[in-house]
Amino acid sequence: MSPLPLAGLRVLLGVSGGIAAYKAAELVRRLRDAGAEVRVVLTANAARFVTALTFQALSGHPVRTSLWDESAEAAMGHIELARWADEILIAPASADLLARLAHGHADDLLGTLVLASAAPVSVAPAMNRQMWANAATRANLDLLAARGVRVLGPAAGSQACGETGEGRLLEVDDLVARLVAARGPRMLDGVRVLVSAGPTYEDIDPVRFIGNRSSGRMGFAIAEAAVAAGATVTLVAGPVALATPLGVTRVDVRSACEMRDAVLGAAPAHDVFISAAAVGDYRPAQASASKLKKTGQSRTLELVQNPDILAELGQSAARPLLVGFAAETDELERHAREKLELKGLDLIAANQVGERLGFECADNALLLLWPGGREPLAQADKRVLATALVARVAERLHARGGQSR
Ligand code: PMT
Repeated sequence: MSPLPLAGLRVLLGVSGGIAAYKAAELVRRLRDAGAEVRVVLTANAARFVTALTFQALSGHPVRTSLWDESAEAAMGHIELARWADEILIAPASADLLARLAHGHADDLLGTLVLASAAPVSVAPAMNRQMWANAATRANLDLLAARGVRVLGPAAGSQACGETGEGRLLEVDDLVARLVAARGPRMLDGVRVLVSAGPTYEDIDPVRFIGNRSSGRMGFAIAEAAVAAGATVTLVAGPVALATPLGVTRVDVRSACEMRDAVLGAAPAHDVFISAAAVGDYRPAQASASKLKKTGQSRTLELVQNPDILAELGQSAARPLLVGFAAETDELERHAREKLELKGLDLIAANQVGERLGFECADNALLLLWPGGREPLAQADKRVLATALVARVAERLHARGGQSR
């Protein structure tokens, strides 16, 4: 019989105030099912949503709610509790709690425990979608992630407030699975991954440009999946309206030439380059400095070819592992294999694009091709595909025996 995934792990479960606090009761059971020993700390606001008695019954241990609980301090004081923990998991983690953790507040028991413990900390955020998207919350999470705090979730879906979007607490089983995965060795620990995403805009004049329908979702999902796999990630992004995934260093560019400079400049410091950007193949020969006027006659726009960023990297001696994309409307496999060979790639992810396909939408389907092999990845959310792609990239990187070439 295989050992339980969290056998013997001492988990200090912090519960902060929010409607999702009721799910933490089930979480205690699932953590114990996975073999963990669980002790629970409630913030004052959490205790308004759920009772300490519930958690005491489910964890089999007294529940702490305050720094100033004399009987508890005499038995297992907060410093002992901080030392006892192998892992601190905070679920749900409210926007307020994340702000207090980011700034090192120690004005309640949970904040004090996090500061006083050497155990790894994981937070599972849960809040209204606007609060989740707010720049203050993002900045707090960036600070926490930069200090090594693991961020598990959130999920997207319908919210208790009646809105729909990102900010739901992960489902309890998913949360436990992610905690287990996060504690194990990760596929891309120590690996530096460069990702490009989104479209490029090629200016015609100060108000017009040639662009394309890429939303950036595919590339952003890859960057997020690579961080989750342990990589250090740089994301070169064309003009998109997406929030930067946590833990990712983002470089914003506009045109193909700017993207080329950013990618070629960063590539030598990376082990892998995944080129998910829809780079414009052509740009106007000359961008007009002033707005072009209507002349009453037809106009011809002269276009010149843009540099092919991937092909250029494919020819360089000290190149990272190169993963391209192929966006095709017809003969997917044939055209993608041509690009694989022509650009000297290690792997290419081919996707059919067109009306409601590939671009813009939340789902995609990929056909992975490499010299001598192929693997279709069936239609799924881009985040799911990104995780699968990152796993295949890690396999290829490890198969060739390490990081940089
Ligand atoms: O952004 P989304 O809305 O989520 O859509 C995702 C996507 C469809 C844009 C993405 O999955 C995708 O297919 N990206 C690559 C689009 C593309 O430009 O494909 P291509 O077949 O034209 O180019 C082949 C490869 O060469 C790509 O990796 C591309 O990044 C790269 N390239 C292309 C032209 C160029 N001048 N330089 C390049 O490096």
